[in-house]
Amino acid sequence: MQTLHLKVDPDNPNPKIIEIAAALIREGETVAFPTETVYGVGANGLDEKAVRNVFKAKGRPLKNPLLMHVMSWEQASSLVTDISEEVLLLVNRFWPGPLTLVARANDKVPPLVTAGLPTVGLRMPDHRVALDLIKAAGVPVAATSANLSGRPSSTSARHVLKDLNGRIAGVLDAGSTGWGIESTILDITRPPFTILRPGAVSRERLEEVLPGLIAATKPGAEERSRLRAAHYRPDARVIPVKPGENLAQLAQAEAARGKRVGVVVVGDQELPTLVDLVVVINGGSAEYGRRLYEIFRLADSRKIEYLFMEIPEETGLGVAVADRIYEAARR
Ligand code: TXA
Ligand code: MG
Repeated sequence: MQTLHLKVDPDNPNPKIIEIAAALIREGETVAFPTETVYGVGANGLDEKAVRNVFKAKGRPLKNPLLMHVMSWEQASSLVTDISEEVLLLVNRFWPGPLTLVARANDKVPPLVTAGLPTVGLRMPDHRVALDLIKAAGVPVAATSANLSGRPSSTSARHVLKDLNGRIAGVLDAGSTGWGIESTILDITRPPFTILRPGAVSRERLEEVLPGLIAATKPGAEERSRLRAAHYRPDARVIPVKPGENLAQLAQAEAARGKRVGVVVVGDQELPTLVDLVVVINGGSAEYGRRLYEIFRLADSRKIEYLFMEIPEETGLGVAVADRIYEAARR
């Protein structure tokens, strides 16, 4: 399959180019597109055969559900039941934006999208290209991060093509994504609403809208395990390092044993010598989140064996960054 590379202006995409991609979606093909978090790859969410192509392109296990990407709350609410007033407060505040809501699905949603779960994840991306595409396609788009299963999410069309060239029908290329880290996934099926995956919208921001109604999943909870089923494993062994631990010394010791070592540190501090990759994050967790997947890809391409990563302060966006580092460290 030849993958069409369609360049568009992120702020003012050419409707003719959008229509090419939308027509592919209507024909049951797979298209990658930018969102405000990471690139997604999706297909007509109401057509089970089309949805199957998304799993095939990524090599994604069928037991791992996709998210329904929508262009309005109206479109989202046509797919679910039992929406409470609290949920509308969240929608008003955070949509479009990086908050995915897991709600009870109705029978319009093909079981393949939800992997047979009674619930479906609803996501309205805050990106003009994604919204225009979904609007022009005229259907909700069942999508997932645009990477090969087991690889980091893509924050540019270059990453998408590296993983999926020849496996998808097209990619809308609007440059780099904003957040660089995926959406927050919130289970709204019963109170308290539970964060299944920390992401670009922090728990603190959700609490502002619904004080006392937001909980984090317990490690090992069934929903959480499902999320962990197909997590990213880099080639390098990732070693999370808490602030205050001596990262330079730990890294130096591995380098002295002749290993290829990389380090990622937050802010000004002592740096190890003799290592093969040094990344310094000066812009806080926002910058860490934006660069995280690029750093993983860079470490892989430099054949790093041990990647020492400083854990940022675990508040706000730092919670999501720390979550992705701990996931990458899991073997
Ligand atoms: O920011 C994002 O959310 C990006 C962009 C492309 O929208 N999408 C994304 O999709 O990260 P994906 O498939 O890589 O991650 C979605 C996660 C998966 O781990 C999936 O298992 C989980 O959401 N998920 C989907 N439906 C679910 C459901 N009904 N209940 C619990 N978890 C669900
Ligand atoms: Mg993913």
